[in-house]
Amino acid sequence: MTARPITTVRTVVAAIEEAGPGIKLFTLTDPDQWELPPFKPGAHIDLHLPNGLVRTYSLCNEPADNARYVIAVKLEPDGRGGSRALHDDVRVGDAIGVSLPRGGLDCGAGLARHVFVAGGIGVTPFLSMARHLARTGVADFVLHLIVREELPLARHLAPLINEGRVVVHRTSRTGRPDLAALIGEGGSETLVACCGPDGMTDDFERATSAWPAANVHIERFVAPPVVIDPDAKPFALSLARSGTEIQVRAGQTMLVALQEAGIDIATSCCGGICGACKVGWLEGKPVHRDRVLSTYERERYLMVCVAGSDADRLVLDL
Ligand code: FES
Repeated sequence: MTARPITTVRTVVAAIEEAGPGIKLFTLTDPDQWELPPFKPGAHIDLHLPNGLVRTYSLCNEPADNARYVIAVKLEPDGRGGSRALHDDVRVGDAIGVSLPRGGLDCGAGLARHVFVAGGIGVTPFLSMARHLARTGVADFVLHLIVREELPLARHLAPLINEGRVVVHRTSRTGRPDLAALIGEGGSETLVACCGPDGMTDDFERATSAWPAANVHIERFVAPPVVIDPDAKPFALSLARSGTEIQVRAGQTMLVALQEAGIDIATSCCGGICGACKVGWLEGKPVHRDRVLSTYERERYLMVCVAGSDADRLVLDL
């Protein structure tokens, strides 16, 4: 049984470019040069790699540039294998299936100012947003890029640096900047966003703890380990569209229970940070645990890789 078909778009690798220390930039296009499905600035796509891995990357190009998807991949020698597969095995002309783009920000919508804080390769979603804002002029922005010494994607950042839109902080020379000082005071007309290593996103989360949740956006590189709740109780999943009932055992994830029942669910991080496994819920009391959905989105969606239930029965829109 397949309740929610996993949709992929067929692309081919049109170009691969060295883009900084251990970083390659991959350009994916439609095999027949059609436009690709649209996306918001800083949206993500899942790549279905030839070795069967599925990995999520931010798009670096901007929505107006919709004949291609451009992603930057930093080689992580001790990672889970996705970056190594892309660096070592993927060549120009290879076919790669990608998901429809998801996420990203409505840059400029009712906001006067954007402050982006990026650590190293975490600059990728902000490159897309900054290019979009610079071209449209709909809102002011600044991008603080924190690196040890060498810049990622230097050639692509150069125009924004030359325009004074990017402030580079080299920690090897000046130490780590004070994030609270970089982002300034919270206000309903300012959106602040951070993407970088865990220490940076944790500091950023603390620095913005008093800000309205809707004005803060955080993207993480690595999902925290899934913690099994020792007090978790079994519950029933009811699939509204098919009428199927599935039992989720104590300590089991919804994702595993759905997969055991033959339901195809798109996944990538399996830790609540990428947004791939988002499913609508209709009745019940979900326990969310993800780090990707907004408060507003949680009223309608959950991430089945980490969410649990505080009631005996949870109805999903599947
Ligand atoms: S698979 Fe990434 S959030 Fe569930």
